[in-house]
Amino acid sequence: MNVEKDFSLKKFNTFGIDIKAKQFVAFHTDDELLNFLKSEEVNLEDILIIGGGSNILFTKDFNGTVLKSEIMGINVLERNKENIFLEVGSGVLWDDLVEYTVNKGYGGIENLTLIPGTVGAAPIQNIGAYGVEFEEVFEELEGIDLLNKRKTIYKKSQCNFGYRDSIFKTELKNKFVVTKIKIKLKVNPQLNTSYKAIQDYIKEKSIENIDIKEISKIVKEIRKSKLPDPNIIGNAGSFFKNPVINKELFIELKNNYDDLVFYQVENDKYKIPAGWLIEKAGYKGKRFDNVGVHEKQSLVLVNYGGATGMEIYDLSNKIKSKILEKFNIVLETEVNIVH
Ligand code: EPU
Repeated sequence: MNVEKDFSLKKFNTFGIDIKAKQFVAFHTDDELLNFLKSEEVNLEDILIIGGGSNILFTKDFNGTVLKSEIMGINVLERNKENIFLEVGSGVLWDDLVEYTVNKGYGGIENLTLIPGTVGAAPIQNIGAYGVEFEEVFEELEGIDLLNKRKTIYKKSQCNFGYRDSIFKTELKNKFVVTKIKIKLKVNPQLNTSYKAIQDYIKEKSIENIDIKEISKIVKEIRKSKLPDPNIIGNAGSFFKNPVINKELFIELKNNYDDLVFYQVENDKYKIPAGWLIEKAGYKGKRFDNVGVHEKQSLVLVNYGGATGMEIYDLSNKIKSKILEKFNIVLETEVNIVH
C-alpha cells in the first residue's frame, strides 16, 4: 500500500487541475484497504474515492484522504453455451477490459470503447455510450463498506441504476469502495448499431461484415472525431447530463427551433442533448482565458492549460444560467465537483 502526504493530484484528474490531497492512499488488495481503515482514525467526512479521475473537478486542495484502487486482474469465473462471466478488479482501466473482451470475442461492452476511467467507476456512473449502458452486462460487485469496514456484495437490483446514476453516487457516496465487479458477456455477440452516429458511419463508409471488433473500431473513430483526448487537452467528457423535459416545454421548443434534437424517453418526457442547447446558446468553441467549451462537442468543458478548478466551475455556472434564461431548462452536472 502507498500512503503519500500532500500529494499532487494533477496526474490523477483528467482536467489536469493542479491541487493537493492531504493524504493519498493507493491499495492493491481489499485486505490492504481494510488494514488501512482499521489502523487509522478515518473520518468518513474526509474521504474521497477516485477511479481514473476522469469524471471529477477539484475546485481547491482536498483536505482529507483520497483512496485509489490498484486492484488488478480479469478472471473468467464461468462459461456456458451463451455466456461468459468475468470478475474484474476495480483498478483495471475500463478500456483495457473492453479491449480484452473484444479480442476474445465476448460481446456486450464493445460500444463502450475508449471511455476513460477505471472498472471501479463504471457502476458508480453507470457509464453509457452509443446505445449501451453498463448495467446491461452487470451482475454484482464486491466492495468495502466504510461505515462498518466489512466486505459487502451488491447485486444489480440493489444498485438503483439510472441514467449516469447509481446508489454509489447517492446514498453511498464516498461510503463504499468498489473492489471487484462481475459482468456477464455473450459468447455469440448481438451487435448494437441502434445509435444514429454508428448507423451514419456504417452507411457513409459502406462497411460490411460487422462484428464486435468492427463496432469497437467505429466507436473509436467517432469518439476521436468529436471528443478531446484528455492527454492533450484537459477535460472530463460530458460535463452536464442531457436534461429531460416535459411535453409542454418540448412543444414550445419545437415551435421555436426546427432543428431541435430530441429523444422521447417516456410518453410525456423528452431528452434534449445538452450539447445542442449549449451550442444554440452560442458557447460552442468559445474560449475564456485558460478554459473553454470544446469546438466539436459543446458538452465538454476543457482546460487549455494552467486553469484552476474554479475557472472551470465558474464557466459551468455561466453556461447553466444562460441555458436557464434562454430555454427555461436546468442543466445538471454529470461531473462530480469536489469543493
Ligand atoms: N449536438 C449538437 N451540438 C453539440 C453537441 C451535440 O448539436 O455541440 C447534437 C448532435 O448533433 C447530436 C446530439 O446532440 O444530434 C447528440 O450528440 P452525441 O451523439 O455527441 O451525444 P450526446 O448526447 O451529446 C451522450 C453522452 C456521451 C456519449 C454520447 C454517445 C451524456 C451526458 N453524454 O452525448 O457521454 O459518449 O452520448 O453515446 O449522456 C460522457 O459521459 O462523458 C460522454 C462523453
